[in-house]
Amino acid sequence: MRRLRVHYPLKRGRVWPLFGPCGVIKAVDDMHFDLHAGETLGIVGESGCGKSTLARALVGLETPTGGQISIDGHNVTAYSDADWRPLRREVQIVFQDPQASLNPRMSIAQCIAEPLKTLCPEVGANERSARVLEMMQRVGLDAELKDRYPHEISGGQCQRVGIARALVVRPKVLICDEPVSALDVSVQAQIVHLLVDLQREYGLAMLFISHDLAVVRQLSHRVMVMYLGKVMEQSARDALFEAPQHPYTRALLSAVPDFEAQLPGERVELIGEIPSPSNPPSGCVFRTRCPLVDHVCAQQVPVLRRVPSGGYSACHFAAYAESPMIPRTA
Ligand SMILES: Nc1ncnc2c1ncn2[C@@H]1O[C@H](COP(=O)(O)OP(=O)(O)OP(=O)(O)O)[C@@H](O)[C@H]1O
Ligand SMILES: [Mg+2]
Repeated sequence: MRRLRVHYPLKRGRVWPLFGPCGVIKAVDDMHFDLHAGETLGIVGESGCGKSTLARALVGLETPTGGQISIDGHNVTAYSDADWRPLRREVQIVFQDPQASLNPRMSIAQCIAEPLKTLCPEVGANERSARVLEMMQRVGLDAELKDRYPHEISGGQCQRVGIARALVVRPKVLICDEPVSALDVSVQAQIVHLLVDLQREYGLAMLFISHDLAVVRQLSHRVMVMYLGKVMEQSARDALFEAPQHPYTRALLSAVPDFEAQLPGERVELIGEIPSPSNPPSGCVFRTRCPLVDHVCAQQVPVLRRVPSGGYSACHFAAYAESPMIPRTA
C-alpha cells in the first residue's frame, strides 16, 4: 500500500442530487504499509477509524480515491475488472457477521464452492466437490453439514464456512474484518486458534482487524494502530504492547485494565470525542484528544518516523517516546 486514500463524498441530505457533494469523508487517508507472506498484521482503532473501508479497498470492493495497492509487485489500483480477476483470488476476505455474509439460499457446500466456480473456472466439478469437502474438514466442519443452509447451523459454524469459502481458492492474502466479534467467547477462541493454524499451514499474509486488543496480541506479528483514517503507529507486537510509542496507542492500552497494569510510565486518558472524519483536525488528526499537544501539532502533519524500538510512530514527539510520556501542560 502506498499513500492509499478512500474518500467518500459527503451527501447534502435530500438536496444532494441538485447541489453535488459538499465535502468528503476521509475514511482512509494516506495509508502506507506492507504485508509480507507468512505474517499477521493486526489492525486496531476505534469505531469509524476506517478499518473496514481499508479491508474493502484491499479486496476491490471499494475504489481508492488515490494512492496505490500492489499485490506481488503488480499495481492493481488502476486495473479494470477483467484485469483484477486473476489476482482477485489471491486476496480473500472474512467478514464480521458470519450469517449475513452467506447467501441464505445456498447450501453450505454451495456457499464454499461458489468462489471456486467464479474465480477458478479451470477447476472441474469433481475436483471442486473434493476441494469443498477437504476444506470443510480442514476448518472443522463435519461433512454431514454440507447440505444444510446457513440458518440451520450455529454462528461459529457459519464463520468456519466463511473461512472455508475464503481459503478454498488458495489465496496468498487473507483479510479478516472483525471475524470473531459476533461470536461468544469460547467460540471466539476456537476460531482464533483455527486462523492461527491456517495462517501457519498455508503461509498466508493475514490482515487481522479487531477492536479486541487481547485477540490482536494473541495472533499478530506486527500491529498497526489507526485513527481517523491514518496510521498512528506500526510496531512489532511485543514492542507495541510493552513500549507503545504513540500517545494514542498508550491511550488505547490504558483503557484496558490488563494492559494498563503492564504499561511502563504514565497512563494516558483520552480526552473528548473522536472528531468527524469529514472535518478532521488540521496537522495531527489526534491533537484534539492528545495530552502531549503543542503548537506544532496544529500546523504540521506528523510523518511516520522510525522510533528506537524499531517500529514507526506518527507523532512530533516520537523521539521522546522512549522515556515515559509526561503530559505537557499548555
Ligand atoms: N459507503 C460509505 N459512504 C459514506 N461513508 C462511509 C461509507 N462507508 C463508511 N463510511 C464512513 O467512513 C468512516 C470509516 O468507516 P469504517 O466502516 O471503515 O470504520 P471501521 O473502523 O470499520 O468502524 P467499526 O469499528 O465500527 O467497524 C466512517 O466515518 C463511516 O461513517
Ligand atoms: Mg468495521
